[in-house]
Amino acid sequence: MINVAFVCLGNICRSPMAELIFSELAKERGLALSFCISSFGTSDCEEGNSIYPPARRTLEKHGIYGKHTARQITLKDVINNDYILVMDGGNLFDLLRLTGGDFGDKIMRLCSFTDNPRDVADPWYTLNFEKAYEDIYDGCNCFMEYLLKEKAEVFGYDKRH
Ligand code: 4NP
Repeated sequence: MINVAFVCLGNICRSPMAELIFSELAKERGLALSFCISSFGTSDCEEGNSIYPPARRTLEKHGIYGKHTARQITLKDVINNDYILVMDGGNLFDLLRLTGGDFGDKIMRLCSFTDNPRDVADPWYTLNFEKAYEDIYDGCNCFMEYLLKEKAEVFGYDKRH
């Protein structure tokens, strides 16, 4: 079982999009049971709120459905996850402040797994939800490929093939 947490600022746009997209990729590969997938905000500003409707509509346009209730990440959540995938450098900074600089090896920007490491710009400010979707999808897809290649033993894959 691999525990993956996606993190953004508010937990109503980017990280719930990442949670649902990555869940879909895991399902498509028959690996849903190999993961515990969640998402959090570094802030409590949207605590208890649903996915922001423009983010939900963008997901639905791409055939991805699901619900999420925003919650702020705690140190315990950092400890309990194997991978903490943040959307931008600000999220990384905020998380390292929460941990006092610890656990840096498992806190990574989602798009650092792509050929073009970059932040996922916040659509709350840019209003470009489609661009956020594309960047998040790219990051999730490349992260899944990384796991399948580098952590194949976790999935019980026969390495001879
Ligand atoms: P997110 O976007 O971090 O992608 O969920 C935001 C949502 C809400 C706020 C900021 C960013 N806010 O300030 O309320």
